[in-house]
Amino acid sequence: MADFLAIEGLAKADLLRLIDATRGSLAVAEGRAPNRTTLSGRVVANLFLEDSTRTRCSFETAVHRLGGSVFNLTPTGSSVSKGETLIDTARNIECMGVAAIVVRTSISGGAKIVADAVACPVINAGDGRHEHPTQALLDATTLIEEFGSLEGRTIAIVGDITNSRVARSTTHAVTMLGGRVRLVGPPTLVTPAFEQISKGPGTVKTMTNLDAALEGVDAVIMLRVQFERAAGGGVSTDYRSMYGLTQERAARMPAHAIVMHPGPMNRGMEIDDQVADDPTRSRILRQVTVGVAARMAVLENLLAPRPVLEGTSP
Ligand code: CP
Repeated sequence: MADFLAIEGLAKADLLRLIDATRGSLAVAEGRAPNRTTLSGRVVANLFLEDSTRTRCSFETAVHRLGGSVFNLTPTGSSVSKGETLIDTARNIECMGVAAIVVRTSISGGAKIVADAVACPVINAGDGRHEHPTQALLDATTLIEEFGSLEGRTIAIVGDITNSRVARSTTHAVTMLGGRVRLVGPPTLVTPAFEQISKGPGTVKTMTNLDAALEGVDAVIMLRVQFERAAGGGVSTDYRSMYGLTQERAARMPAHAIVMHPGPMNRGMEIDDQVADDPTRSRILRQVTVGVAARMAVLENLLAPRPVLEGTSP
């Protein structure tokens, strides 16, 4: 595999290898083991044309943990603000001799556009409403860390499904690993067409009643309402009471069920403070730590001298 652009089309064996590599990188990510030298002498470009805290900083941290160097390019302070195109920007960065380009863009399919324009490996750090594959890798690893396997597990993903690249990527990953996904939200933000996402063996069910969707779940992933993608138009004033993971609602979930959120959170809207900060159920900050290891795993798999990812569809 030359790039890491999507979970859709990835072979299950490759996803499992990446999850293993993520788990194998956790000790380094947590500072419990020495940094590696895999990327020694190599430079990675973070091309972030949309705002980010977790993804950008964890890619930076991952490169440092692997002994490489990284620079960031954002619209402010770069020639993107003068109208330079995504392709021209990526081609110019490539000519600086970078080993890989990590790209975040509001353009759905934008990561593939960059990958087609340059020869170096490209990693999708979130492209519009399309995919966020390293988020799915960290989500799947966090779930497997919790449950050992996703076979037969039920994961509810709640909120702004229509606009969510996280929902799309994580649904692909969970169902590939045999889990059942319930996609939950108001009819304006989730449509039955999403049930076709699954290529199996797991299944996808769309639901509009959150209380029903939380019955028997093993994990719930709450999503941010993405006002910057015009999702606000699909959100009514009773959103919190109907689709928020309130303290009362969380108390009715199975005792073992965990709570996740890709961040950033709209506290008091899709999730209550007490739920987000619940030391027993919440894995939200654990996801962030696992995210560093996930990005290390992807970087090593793409940039290590001997690629280990094989068998992905084009
Ligand atoms: N989960 C995620 O993509 O967060 P950021 O937008 O902060 O990178």
